[in-house]
Amino acid sequence: MIRFLKSSLFVLGVTGLGVASAPLLAQDEVKIGFIVKKPEQAWFINEQDAATKLGQEEGFEVVRLAGEDGQQVLSAIDNLNSQGAQGFVICPPDVRLGPAIVNRAKQYGMKVVTVDDQFLGADGEPMASVPHLGMSGYKIGQQVGETIAKEMKARGWDPQSVAALRISNNELPTAKERTDGATDALLEAGFVKDNIFDAPQQNTDTSSAFAAASPVLSKNGRFEHWVIFALNEESVLGGVRASEQYGLSPDQVIGVGINGSGAAFAEFSREKPTGFYGTIAVSSTMHGRQSAENLYTWITEDKEPPANTETTGTLMTRDNWQQVREELGL
Ligand code: GLA
Repeated sequence: MIRFLKSSLFVLGVTGLGVASAPLLAQDEVKIGFIVKKPEQAWFINEQDAATKLGQEEGFEVVRLAGEDGQQVLSAIDNLNSQGAQGFVICPPDVRLGPAIVNRAKQYGMKVVTVDDQFLGADGEPMASVPHLGMSGYKIGQQVGETIAKEMKARGWDPQSVAALRISNNELPTAKERTDGATDALLEAGFVKDNIFDAPQQNTDTSSAFAAASPVLSKNGRFEHWVIFALNEESVLGGVRASEQYGLSPDQVIGVGINGSGAAFAEFSREKPTGFYGTIAVSSTMHGRQSAENLYTWITEDKEPPANTETTGTLMTRDNWQQVREELGL
């Protein structure tokens, strides 16, 4: 009888998962995962560091995991379940994995929030049912465009002589919002529309951007000056490296990124300026802390986080990077 009871309770537990809300837990029992698509990038390292630190302060455990493709994400979730985690924060490697990830989490009764890249549902629309925290892509993109336009003016460039290398990733909505915002701001400032060239990248890192940028530069050798933008600074750096390899000097290039992570600090610390003029810095510390905090509160107090939180950015250049870094707690 006892055996029967036990097994039926087990069955009940499994089928009921995801429906009943989790019982209130003692603080030291809480464990969450923090899964990121690019574990080697400074942005994501800092997010995971910030979440871990918050966990230490508030008394919960953060398990840092890599999810570089769908398979790895699903095994990370299995792994979290076997460790007894109650939920996870994730920046997915592909936003279209949203429904599959949510299903797997539901099977285990785990709560999910996204950070940076928001899930898309089967209908191609953002999955509003999963709480999200990310940057306000279009506005930050506009800041990129405005910064480039201002610097073009300061250098006295004739718009006819300037081409734009738009390293694009249109499959990722936040990436498209950012490059659209930058494009609109440039056009508004008088940039020549026909001088904007797309370099579609396969990924969101430096090497995919380098590979995408090189042929575009060599096909358009008639331009004397180039501006470079993309969804993040890692990709702009790929474009800048390609411009160097192509033979352009730093004073012929204005690259402006987004993130304000270790990748930018390393570039600004070089002895001589490069074509990487600046980056719109966003606090990855805040993204990591806040998303973990939201999930933790959801688990312990059953308080669902806001559906969508949008964060803003600050221009960081070679001149002010250390100060901005400090202000944003990076
Ligand atoms: C995307 C990019 C990252 C970073 C985050 C910020 O995930 O790939 O480099 O810009 O957005 O939200």
